[in-house]
Amino acid sequence: MKPVNIGILGLGTVGGGTAAVLQDNAAEISRRLGRDIAITAVCAREEARAKAICPTAAFERDPFALVRRDDVDVVVELFGGTDTAKDAVIEAISHGKHIVTANKKLLAEYGNEIFPLAEEKNVMVQFEASVAGGIPIIKALREGLAANRIRSIAGIINGTSNFILSEMREKGSAFADVLKEAQALGYAEADPTFDIEGHDAGHKITIMSALAFGTPMNFASCYLEGISKLDSRDIKYAEELGYRIKLLGITRKTGKGIELRVHPTLIPERRLLANVNGVMNAVRVNADMVGETLYYGAGAGALPTASAVVADIIDIARLIGAETENRVPHLAVQPDEVQAQTI
Ligand code: HSE
Repeated sequence: MKPVNIGILGLGTVGGGTAAVLQDNAAEISRRLGRDIAITAVCAREEARAKAICPTAAFERDPFALVRRDDVDVVVELFGGTDTAKDAVIEAISHGKHIVTANKKLLAEYGNEIFPLAEEKNVMVQFEASVAGGIPIIKALREGLAANRIRSIAGIINGTSNFILSEMREKGSAFADVLKEAQALGYAEADPTFDIEGHDAGHKITIMSALAFGTPMNFASCYLEGISKLDSRDIKYAEELGYRIKLLGITRKTGKGIELRVHPTLIPERRLLANVNGVMNAVRVNADMVGETLYYGAGAGALPTASAVVADIIDIARLIGAETENRVPHLAVQPDEVQAQTI
Protein backbone atom coordinates (compact mmCIF):
# COMPACT_ATOMS: atom_id res chain seq x y z
CA MET A 1 0.00 0.00 0.00
CA LYS A 2 1.32 3.46 -0.76
CA PRO A 3 2.42 5.59 2.23
CA VAL A 4 0.23 8.23 3.81
CA ASN A 5 1.88 11.57 3.15
CA ILE A 6 1.87 14.21 5.81
CA GLY A 7 2.90 17.87 5.83
CA ILE A 8 3.85 19.41 9.16
CA LEU A 9 3.20 23.08 9.99
CA GLY A 10 5.61 24.02 12.77
CA LEU A 11 8.68 22.27 14.09
CA GLY A 12 8.79 23.59 17.65
CA THR A 13 8.61 21.35 20.72
CA VAL A 14 5.66 19.24 19.54
CA GLY A 15 6.61 19.32 15.84
CA GLY A 16 10.13 18.11 16.65
CA GLY A 17 8.65 15.43 18.92
CA THR A 18 6.25 14.29 16.18
CA ALA A 19 9.09 13.85 13.69
CA ALA A 20 11.06 11.93 16.34
CA VAL A 21 8.15 9.58 17.15
CA LEU A 22 7.48 8.91 13.46
CA GLN A 23 11.15 8.19 12.82
CA ASP A 24 11.98 6.21 15.99
CA ASN A 25 8.86 4.03 15.92
CA ALA A 26 8.46 3.82 12.14
CA ALA A 27 8.65 0.01 12.00
CA GLU A 28 6.15 -0.48 14.84
CA ILE A 29 3.72 2.06 13.38
CA SER A 30 4.00 0.57 9.92
CA ARG A 31 3.34 -2.94 11.29
CA ARG A 32 0.22 -1.77 13.13
CA LEU A 33 -1.08 0.34 10.26
CA GLY A 34 -0.12 -1.85 7.34
CA ARG A 35 1.45 1.09 5.51
CA ASP A 36 4.15 3.71 6.06
CA ILE A 37 3.73 7.32 7.08
CA ALA A 38 5.99 9.70 5.16
CA ILE A 39 6.71 13.33 6.05
CA THR A 40 6.75 14.86 2.59
CA ALA A 41 6.81 18.58 3.47
CA VAL A 42 7.48 20.82 6.46
CA CYS A 43 6.99 24.50 7.14
CA ALA A 44 9.12 26.04 9.88
CA ARG A 45 10.87 29.30 10.77
CA GLU A 46 14.38 27.96 10.18
CA GLU A 47 15.20 25.91 7.12
CA ALA A 48 18.39 24.52 8.70
CA ARG A 49 16.41 23.14 11.67
CA ALA A 50 13.81 21.68 9.28
CA LYS A 51 16.52 19.96 7.24
CA ALA A 52 18.18 18.61 10.40
CA ILE A 53 14.89 17.18 11.73
CA CYS A 54 13.29 16.00 8.47
CA PRO A 55 16.11 15.65 5.91
CA THR A 56 13.99 14.09 3.17
CA ALA A 57 10.98 16.43 3.43
CA ALA A 58 10.49 19.39 1.11
CA PHE A 59 10.88 22.70 2.92
CA GLU A 60 8.12 25.27 2.47
CA ARG A 61 8.45 28.73 3.96
CA ASP A 62 4.82 29.51 3.08
CA PRO A 63 2.24 27.44 5.03
CA PHE A 64 -0.40 28.05 2.33
CA ALA A 65 1.90 26.52 -0.28
CA LEU A 66 2.36 23.45 1.95
CA VAL A 67 -1.35 22.85 2.46
CA ARG A 68 -1.97 22.98 -1.30
CA ARG A 69 0.70 20.41 -2.22
CA ASP A 70 -0.52 17.32 -4.05
CA ASP A 71 1.92 15.14 -2.12
CA VAL A 72 0.30 16.02 1.24
CA ASP A 73 -2.74 13.97 2.35
CA VAL A 74 -2.80 15.07 5.99
CA VAL A 75 -1.82 18.50 7.33
CA VAL A 76 -0.44 18.37 10.87
CA GLU A 77 -0.93 21.83 12.34
CA LEU A 78 1.50 22.49 15.18
CA PHE A 79 1.95 26.26 14.88
CA GLY A 80 -0.32 26.98 17.85
CA GLY A 81 -2.21 30.25 18.22
CA THR A 82 -5.00 31.35 15.95
CA ASP A 83 -3.54 33.75 13.40
CA THR A 84 -1.78 31.81 10.68
CA ALA A 85 -2.93 28.49 12.13
CA LYS A 86 -6.62 29.27 11.59
CA ASP A 87 -6.21 30.50 8.02
CA ALA A 88 -3.89 27.63 7.10
CA VAL A 89 -6.28 25.01 8.55
CA ILE A 90 -9.25 26.52 6.71
CA GLU A 91 -7.24 26.64 3.48
CA ALA A 92 -6.14 23.03 3.97
CA ILE A 93 -9.70 21.82 4.59
CA SER A 94 -10.89 23.76 1.56
CA HIS A 95 -8.30 21.84 -0.46
CA GLY A 96 -9.65 18.52 0.86
CA LYS A 97 -6.80 17.81 3.29
CA HIS A 98 -7.37 15.96 6.55
CA ILE A 99 -6.17 17.77 9.66
CA VAL A 100 -4.39 16.72 12.83
CA THR A 101 -3.94 19.52 15.34
CA ALA A 102 -2.76 19.97 18.91
CA ASN A 103 -4.20 23.48 18.92
CA LYS A 104 -6.73 23.80 21.74
CA LYS A 105 -7.10 27.58 21.35
CA LEU A 106 -7.95 27.17 17.68
CA LEU A 107 -10.64 24.54 18.34
CA ALA A 108 -12.14 26.09 21.48
CA GLU A 109 -12.45 29.49 19.80
CA TYR A 110 -13.08 28.54 16.14
CA GLY A 111 -14.19 24.89 16.26
CA ASN A 112 -17.74 26.00 15.45
CA GLU A 113 -16.44 27.24 12.07
CA ILE A 114 -13.84 24.55 11.44
CA PHE A 115 -15.88 21.40 12.11
CA PRO A 116 -18.86 22.28 9.87
CA LEU A 117 -16.45 23.18 7.06
CA ALA A 118 -14.70 19.83 7.52
CA GLU A 119 -18.07 18.01 7.36
CA GLU A 120 -18.93 19.90 4.18
CA LYS A 121 -15.60 19.04 2.57
CA ASN A 122 -15.74 15.46 3.85
CA VAL A 123 -12.40 15.60 5.65
CA MET A 124 -11.38 14.50 9.15
CA VAL A 125 -10.10 16.81 11.87
CA GLN A 126 -8.43 14.95 14.75
CA PHE A 127 -7.33 16.66 17.94
CA GLU A 128 -6.30 14.17 20.62
CA ALA A 129 -3.17 16.19 21.49
CA SER A 130 -5.19 19.33 22.16
CA VAL A 131 -6.27 18.12 25.62
CA ALA A 132 -4.09 16.64 28.37
CA GLY A 133 -1.01 15.92 26.22
CA GLY A 134 -0.41 12.19 25.96
CA ILE A 135 -3.57 11.03 27.76
CA PRO A 136 -6.06 9.60 25.22
CA ILE A 137 -8.98 11.49 26.77
CA ILE A 138 -10.63 12.53 23.50
CA LYS A 139 -10.83 8.89 22.46
CA ALA A 140 -12.13 7.97 25.91
CA LEU A 141 -14.93 10.54 25.67
CA ARG A 142 -15.85 9.75 22.06
CA GLU A 143 -15.35 6.01 22.00
CA GLY A 144 -14.65 4.37 25.36
CA LEU A 145 -17.56 6.13 27.08
CA ALA A 146 -19.84 6.24 24.03
CA ALA A 147 -22.55 4.20 25.80
CA ASN A 148 -22.85 6.70 28.65
CA ARG A 149 -24.45 9.99 29.46
CA ILE A 150 -21.66 12.08 30.93
CA ARG A 151 -22.49 13.87 34.17
CA SER A 152 -19.29 15.79 34.86
CA ILE A 153 -15.61 16.13 34.06
CA ALA A 154 -12.99 17.58 36.39
CA GLY A 155 -9.32 17.62 35.65
CA ILE A 156 -5.84 18.92 36.16
CA ILE A 157 -5.30 19.87 32.54
CA ASN A 158 -2.55 22.45 32.55
CA GLY A 159 0.83 20.83 33.11
CA THR A 160 2.66 24.12 33.61
CA SER A 161 0.38 25.27 36.44
CA ASN A 162 0.52 21.88 38.09
CA PHE A 163 4.31 21.86 37.82
CA ILE A 164 4.47 25.32 39.41
CA LEU A 165 2.11 24.43 42.28
CA SER A 166 3.93 21.13 42.91
CA GLU A 167 7.41 22.68 42.97
CA MET A 168 6.25 25.52 45.21
CA ARG A 169 4.81 23.01 47.69
CA GLU A 170 7.54 20.37 47.55
CA LYS A 171 10.62 22.57 47.31
CA GLY A 172 9.41 25.98 48.45
CA SER A 173 10.52 27.38 45.06
CA ALA A 174 9.45 30.86 43.93
CA PHE A 175 6.61 31.09 41.38
CA ALA A 176 8.66 33.02 38.79
CA ASP A 177 11.63 30.60 38.98
CA VAL A 178 9.44 27.52 38.42
CA LEU A 179 7.65 29.21 35.54
CA LYS A 180 11.03 29.81 33.86
CA GLU A 181 11.89 26.15 34.40
CA ALA A 182 8.56 25.06 32.85
CA GLN A 183 9.35 27.24 29.83
CA ALA A 184 12.84 25.74 29.51
CA LEU A 185 11.36 22.22 29.66
CA GLY A 186 8.96 23.03 26.80
CA TYR A 187 5.79 22.73 28.93
CA ALA A 188 4.56 26.33 28.76
CA GLU A 189 2.67 28.06 25.97
CA ALA A 190 4.53 30.56 23.77
CA ASP A 191 2.81 33.18 25.94
CA PRO A 192 2.82 31.59 29.43
CA THR A 193 0.06 33.95 30.58
CA PHE A 194 -2.27 31.44 28.92
CA ASP A 195 -1.05 28.79 31.36
CA ILE A 196 -1.04 30.73 34.59
CA GLU A 197 -4.24 32.71 34.01
CA GLY A 198 -6.29 29.61 33.21
CA HIS A 199 -6.91 30.23 29.47
CA ASP A 200 -5.19 27.03 28.35
CA ALA A 201 -7.18 24.93 30.82
CA GLY A 202 -10.29 26.84 29.72
CA HIS A 203 -9.69 25.89 26.10
CA LYS A 204 -9.26 22.25 27.07
CA ILE A 205 -12.33 22.01 29.31
CA THR A 206 -14.36 23.74 26.57
CA ILE A 207 -13.37 21.03 24.08
CA MET A 208 -14.16 18.19 26.51
CA SER A 209 -17.47 19.80 27.47
CA ALA A 210 -18.58 20.10 23.85
CA LEU A 211 -17.70 16.46 23.21
CA ALA A 212 -19.29 15.19 26.40
CA PHE A 213 -22.57 17.11 26.21
CA GLY A 214 -23.06 17.47 22.46
CA THR A 215 -22.93 21.28 22.48
CA PRO A 216 -21.08 23.74 20.27
CA MET A 217 -17.81 25.13 21.64
CA ASN A 218 -18.60 27.79 24.22
CA PHE A 219 -15.26 29.15 25.43
CA ALA A 220 -16.69 32.66 25.74
CA SER A 221 -18.82 31.46 28.67
CA CYS A 222 -16.02 29.73 30.54
CA TYR A 223 -15.18 31.24 33.96
CA LEU A 224 -11.40 31.66 34.12
CA GLU A 225 -9.26 32.13 37.19
CA GLY A 226 -5.61 31.05 37.12
CA ILE A 227 -2.88 30.57 39.69
CA SER A 228 -1.01 33.85 39.28
CA LYS A 229 -2.46 35.36 42.46
CA LEU A 230 -1.46 32.42 44.66
CA ASP A 231 1.66 32.63 46.77
CA SER A 232 3.58 30.18 48.92
CA ARG A 233 1.52 31.11 52.02
CA ASP A 234 -1.71 29.92 50.34
CA ILE A 235 -0.07 26.59 49.59
CA LYS A 236 1.36 26.28 53.12
CA TYR A 237 -1.93 27.15 54.88
CA ALA A 238 -3.84 24.72 52.65
CA GLU A 239 -1.37 22.01 53.59
CA GLU A 240 -1.73 22.73 57.30
CA LEU A 241 -5.47 22.17 56.90
CA GLY A 242 -4.96 18.87 55.02
CA TYR A 243 -5.57 20.19 51.49
CA ARG A 244 -3.61 20.67 48.27
CA ILE A 245 -4.34 23.50 45.85
CA LYS A 246 -4.87 22.35 42.25
CA LEU A 247 -5.94 24.27 39.18
CA LEU A 248 -9.01 22.38 37.96
CA GLY A 249 -11.04 22.60 34.78
CA ILE A 250 -14.62 21.58 35.55
CA THR A 251 -17.71 21.01 33.42
CA ARG A 252 -21.01 19.70 34.70
CA LYS A 253 -24.49 19.28 33.36
CA THR A 254 -27.06 20.79 35.71
CA GLY A 255 -30.78 21.51 35.51
CA LYS A 256 -29.97 25.10 34.51
CA GLY A 257 -27.37 24.46 31.84
CA ILE A 258 -23.75 23.48 31.54
CA GLU A 259 -21.15 24.70 34.00
CA LEU A 260 -17.79 25.51 32.49
CA ARG A 261 -15.09 26.83 34.80
CA VAL A 262 -11.40 26.90 35.65
CA HIS A 263 -10.08 27.94 39.07
CA PRO A 264 -7.74 26.93 41.88
CA THR A 265 -9.45 24.36 44.09
CA LEU A 266 -8.76 22.96 47.55
CA ILE A 267 -8.64 19.15 47.38
CA PRO A 268 -8.32 16.91 50.47
CA GLU A 269 -4.81 15.46 50.38
CA ARG A 270 -5.96 11.82 50.44
CA ARG A 271 -7.79 12.19 47.10
CA LEU A 272 -6.15 10.90 43.91
CA LEU A 273 -6.32 14.29 42.16
CA ALA A 274 -4.48 15.90 45.09
CA ASN A 275 -1.56 13.56 44.44
CA VAL A 276 -1.08 14.34 40.74
CA ASN A 277 2.20 16.25 40.71
CA GLY A 278 4.61 17.95 38.36
CA VAL A 279 3.66 18.11 34.69
CA MET A 280 1.27 15.19 35.05
CA ASN A 281 -2.40 15.69 34.19
CA ALA A 282 -5.43 13.73 35.39
CA VAL A 283 -9.02 13.83 34.22
CA ARG A 284 -11.92 12.37 36.22
CA VAL A 285 -15.10 11.62 34.30
CA ASN A 286 -18.39 10.79 35.96
CA ALA A 287 -20.79 8.96 33.64
CA ASP A 288 -24.16 7.33 34.25
CA MET A 289 -23.41 3.70 33.38
CA VAL A 290 -19.75 3.19 34.18
CA GLY A 291 -19.55 5.56 37.16
CA GLU A 292 -16.22 7.30 37.75
CA THR A 293 -13.19 6.75 35.57
CA LEU A 294 -9.81 8.46 35.93
CA TYR A 295 -7.20 9.12 33.24
CA TYR A 296 -3.62 9.99 34.18
CA GLY A 297 -0.43 10.79 32.28
CA ALA A 298 1.98 13.44 31.06
CA GLY A 299 0.04 16.57 30.14
CA ALA A 300 2.75 18.40 28.20
CA GLY A 301 6.19 17.93 26.72
CA ALA A 302 7.49 16.95 23.31
CA LEU A 303 7.14 13.18 23.21
CA PRO A 304 3.93 12.67 25.24
CA THR A 305 2.13 15.27 23.11
CA ALA A 306 3.64 13.85 19.94
CA SER A 307 2.38 10.40 20.97
CA ALA A 308 -1.17 11.79 20.71
CA VAL A 309 -0.46 13.61 17.43
CA VAL A 310 0.87 10.45 15.81
CA ALA A 311 -2.06 8.38 17.13
CA ASP A 312 -4.35 10.80 15.25
CA ILE A 313 -2.28 10.50 12.08
CA ILE A 314 -2.58 6.71 12.35
CA ASP A 315 -6.35 6.97 12.87
CA ILE A 316 -6.74 9.10 9.76
CA ALA A 317 -4.46 6.81 7.78
CA ARG A 318 -6.74 3.89 8.70
CA LEU A 319 -9.86 5.78 7.66
CA ILE A 320 -8.76 7.46 4.43
CA GLY A 321 -11.12 6.16 1.78
CA ALA A 322 -13.64 4.84 4.34
CA GLU A 323 -17.30 5.77 3.98
CA THR A 324 -18.05 9.02 5.82
CA GLU A 325 -20.79 7.26 7.83
CA ASN A 326 -18.16 5.00 9.37
CA ARG A 327 -16.24 7.87 10.91
CA VAL A 328 -16.70 9.23 14.41
CA PRO A 329 -18.44 12.62 14.00
CA HIS A 330 -16.40 15.64 15.01
CA LEU A 331 -18.67 16.93 17.75
CA ALA A 332 -22.02 15.18 17.27
CA VAL A 333 -23.91 18.26 18.43
CA GLN A 334 -27.39 17.37 19.67
CA PRO A 335 -30.02 19.85 18.38
CA ASP A 336 -31.69 20.21 21.79
CA GLU A 337 -28.32 21.07 23.37
CA VAL A 338 -27.45 23.88 20.97
CA GLN A 339 -29.40 26.42 23.03
CA ALA A 340 -28.03 25.19 26.34
CA GLN A 341 -26.70 28.08 28.35
CA THR A 342 -23.32 27.69 29.89
CA ILE A 343 -23.44 28.91 33.48
N1 HSE B 1 1.11 24.61 28.07
C1 HSE B 1 0.36 23.41 28.11
C2 HSE B 1 0.40 22.83 29.50
C3 HSE B 1 0.91 22.47 27.09
O1 HSE B 1 1.24 23.28 30.29
O2 HSE B 1 -0.39 21.96 29.83
C4 HSE B 1 0.07 21.26 26.84
O3 HSE B 1 -1.18 21.59 26.31
